[in-house]
Amino acid sequence: MCGIIGYWNIDNEALPILSGALKKLEYRGYDSFGFATLNNGQIYIEKQIGKISEVKYNNIPGRVGIGHTRWATHGGVTKQNSHPHKDCTGKIAVVHNGIIENFQELKRRLVDEGHKFLSNTDTEIIPHLIEEKLASGLDLKQSVIKISKILKGRNAFIVLDAETNEMIAIRNGSPLILGLKDKEVFIASDIPAFLDKTKEVIYLDDGQLAVIRNERPEFYDINTGKRIIKRLIKIDWNQNQAEKGSYAHFMLKEIIEQKNTIVAAINQDETQLVRVAREINNATNGVFFIGCGTAARVCHIAEYIFSKVANKRINYIPASEFENYKHFLSPETLVIAVSQSGETADVLDALKIAKSKGAKIISILNVIGSSMSRISDYTFHINAGPEKAVASTKATTSQIAVIILLSYACSGKIKDGEKLLMELSGEINDMLNPRYQEHIKNIATILSDEKVQNMFIIGRGINYPLSLESAIKIMEVSYINAQGFAGGELKHGPIALIENGTPVIVLVADDNDKAKILSNAMEVKSRGAYIIGISPDNNNIFDYWIKTPRVDSVGSAIANLIPIQLLSYYLGVAKGYNVDYPKNLAKSVTVN
Ligand code: F6R
Repeated sequence: MCGIIGYWNIDNEALPILSGALKKLEYRGYDSFGFATLNNGQIYIEKQIGKISEVKYNNIPGRVGIGHTRWATHGGVTKQNSHPHKDCTGKIAVVHNGIIENFQELKRRLVDEGHKFLSNTDTEIIPHLIEEKLASGLDLKQSVIKISKILKGRNAFIVLDAETNEMIAIRNGSPLILGLKDKEVFIASDIPAFLDKTKEVIYLDDGQLAVIRNERPEFYDINTGKRIIKRLIKIDWNQNQAEKGSYAHFMLKEIIEQKNTIVAAINQDETQLVRVAREINNATNGVFFIGCGTAARVCHIAEYIFSKVANKRINYIPASEFENYKHFLSPETLVIAVSQSGETADVLDALKIAKSKGAKIISILNVIGSSMSRISDYTFHINAGPEKAVASTKATTSQIAVIILLSYACSGKIKDGEKLLMELSGEINDMLNPRYQEHIKNIATILSDEKVQNMFIIGRGINYPLSLESAIKIMEVSYINAQGFAGGELKHGPIALIENGTPVIVLVADDNDKAKILSNAMEVKSRGAYIIGISPDNNNIFDYWIKTPRVDSVGSAIANLIPIQLLSYYLGVAKGYNVDYPKNLAKSVTVN
């Protein structure tokens, strides 16, 4: 949800660096963008509507600057509403990620006192509040600290001051990471923004700010106002992981990377697996898996995995609904958050509720150093590397892999879990060959016919939550109205929508549900449905067959998702959409 960047140096013009960084943050929002640079005591601003990688913009001078790529929350997609925003004096410019919940009352007061606003954003109150505090005699750092205590909601922002040549970055709930390199300082919402320049990073925590006047940023605790020392961390991501390379899209690259990511996900600390398994087995007041969107579907899949592998009842709840269950929480409850970014607002809010009730928190995350890892008692990193396409693919299967491993740890059989996943990884490697991709592309071309408006996906057992995730993937990338159902449920209502040629994808595993799901497929076929079978075996009810490895139902939680990801991708491409950046979406949803 919005990407922000700051850059300080003494040799280079800032704009090319800022725009290069913003292109890498585009997955966080891409409806408009803007920059502010500092030159000879003056702030220069440039803003445009659209994606930075597609729209021309004018040069502005200066070696220090800030930038923003927007996912609109307050105010439509206009130049006026795009960041950076300035105060009345034009000496302060701000870029912001997050939400200011109490901006209306603050704006009303500022307007009454004569401040002139140019946008409908919540952000614009920040430079005006700073202007007010500076006028009262405070310096920039004191002003930023003061107003950070007034602002309600989760946010992070970077301030540029033309008067003092300073830049201040502050974190209160939304991510901010500094990158350091000789005589350059980078500040960004996410590491890939500057990964091509440096791997030496400092994570800002909530309630901390960084003052940048030279190559050595100073850090302060907002509550005490005291200077603090922060640890420099060397990260081991490589630049290729964050680039598309020869692939047409990040989404395809990330799907293909699943040849390796399952093995990377298995690479977990065994002592921690055993310890967390013990926590799960001893959680006398329930285990709740929580997440949003695709991650919520992973939690639903976890319910089946734990039941099957560990004979254990766990609960799954979409994080945005978690508050309704808070009366069930106690110190004997375990809450397990699943998230790629580790920054999703609804999950963070749910974890805060859990923490306030004394529950223990485990997280299964991709982004290292994210907010969720900071409030968790134990974190499993899925080691999938940066996931840039908005639609989650490799992170999803890696999360499932960690959950499979954890379920085996709960039943005291980690090695069996590792073996299953290693074998599965080999199968996935074989599956993702060019001929397989071509076959799915051909099916996608047929389904991309504009007459196809609705699509259904059915599965039973573990393939039921998989059908729900399949629907998310197809909808977000191809904009076809896709709905997932438990195979047995279709005849209780949705079957009314089946007509001649309606595509129905049938998810089959080599398990006890096989015969029943094929009967359900027959029921819809008899009413004219066009059947795409994702299955280890062909069947004469399938109009098209996409072969999957012969794995048990637990293995099918990963294996059956891969053809769905490819199908969604090729459907989006066939329809001419930008599959990496679906409309209205953002990769990291940091608002409720
Ligand atoms: C869909 C998708 C989203 C995310 C959701 C949670 O493909 O990617 O539904 O799964 O926004 O994001 P994280 O995993 O970062 O918490």
